[in-house]
Amino acid sequence: MDRRRFLRKSVGASAALLLRSQLTGQQDVSLAGSGLVDVSLTAVSTWLSVASRKALLYSYNGQVPGPLIEARAGDTVRLRLKNELPEPTNLHYHGLHVPPTGNADNSFLEIPPRESLTYEFTLPATHPPGTFWYHPHVHGLVARQVSRGLAGVFVVRGELDATPEIRDTPEHFLVLQDFDLYADGLVREPSLMERMQGREGPLVTLSGQRNPRISIQQGGWVRLRIVNASSSRFYRLRLEEHPLHLIATDGGIVPSPIGVEEILLVPGERIDLLVQGQRGEGDYRLLNLPYNRGGIGMMGMMGGMGMMGRSGSAAGGSAEVLATLSYQGRADRTWSLPARLATVEPLPQPPSSFRSFALGMGMGMGMGRGMTFVINGRGFDPNRIDTQTRLNTVEDWEILNSHSMDHPFHVHTNAFQVLDNNGVPEQAWRDTLLVRAGGRVRLRIQFKDYSGTTVYHCHMLDHSDLGMMATLQIA
Ligand code: C2O
Ligand code: CU
Repeated sequence: MDRRRFLRKSVGASAALLLRSQLTGQQDVSLAGSGLVDVSLTAVSTWLSVASRKALLYSYNGQVPGPLIEARAGDTVRLRLKNELPEPTNLHYHGLHVPPTGNADNSFLEIPPRESLTYEFTLPATHPPGTFWYHPHVHGLVARQVSRGLAGVFVVRGELDATPEIRDTPEHFLVLQDFDLYADGLVREPSLMERMQGREGPLVTLSGQRNPRISIQQGGWVRLRIVNASSSRFYRLRLEEHPLHLIATDGGIVPSPIGVEEILLVPGERIDLLVQGQRGEGDYRLLNLPYNRGGIGMMGMMGGMGMMGRSGSAAGGSAEVLATLSYQGRADRTWSLPARLATVEPLPQPPSSFRSFALGMGMGMGMGRGMTFVINGRGFDPNRIDTQTRLNTVEDWEILNSHSMDHPFHVHTNAFQVLDNNGVPEQAWRDTLLVRAGGRVRLRIQFKDYSGTTVYHCHMLDHSDLGMMATLQIA
């Protein structure tokens, strides 16, 4: 057995990490895989250290965030999940284009405490490379489990990763999480009002660290692959005196790098950035700027309870430091960004009308609890089919937000293209999209390869837990 096959067959989370460091020297990384990515995860409540504090969190294999999983298009993923939590759990492979049924990306599965389940699916040979992630998805418990630490990166490698420049660029996976801890390290459970607002913890970490140092060489580059794994916190990112070069959105590479000064990352969303060491020496801060994502709009009722969104602190708040870019030496050779990265084929225009989804709050049916979060007037019911469509069709969806707060809209199984006001698709693939308070977005989606029932929901996980989720049957 050759070295590569051995590595790809090794069992366990550390294998995935080992594989990553080994991959950089591989010449054949761009070839579609047909290997087996074999991973074992145990979801467990443990004392661990996060941002130099002791905390009783939920983790995969004792790590927060969970182990990095790496695969290539064509690979088969076999993932054994053991549940040692005191409550049911499961896994969603956020953004992966794999079946929503059986033992694949099936959010309706539940693994009771002390039981295990082996997930198995094959990434299609055409699966786009990108930064995806995994997290639990048992309805009603998602925000609780994710906010306690359950999240990990699932990266699909592709040709871009194998180009000499990118291959030699230091790559950092930055998983944004926030925690609300008591002084003794226990997690504080939010009130119902805080859940409606979307829970946020004051302790913000990047891959388990507070303000980590990221070194860069003068003239060199770093690649930052950022995942917003917070249950409800938005991040408005800016790196002092350095433009950010966006090379990929949620679901894959963009046609050419897009230079931006700052970027808003909503819960569930990912970005892939290149940063050049264009300054001399010194430290530059990666900042989270103030952003107001709105409140639940019941100010009269909630008077004085501070119900405005706190993400990046409310309007008038101050920026917080997430990480520090630190110059260390000089690169012996430099390179400039390629003008072309990939081709993003626009989805064909669908024949006629579009579907409309309204996000908001309404009176809950059957939940016995008054106001709830709804899509088209209804709270989530796993036994009801809300939207039916046919395999291989393309549809335009309009998402309306009549509410006084922002909602990030996420669709499982198939990525989509965002339509601007003129109906021309954005040259990018996304699976999570901000719909601002009082706003409207349109997207174009094609239902490819897999039939079955999947879901779409708000990715402020408290909102989906409170009902802002619905089912989509693809037949
Ligand atoms: Cu990352 Cu259904 O969600
Ligand atoms: Cu929401």
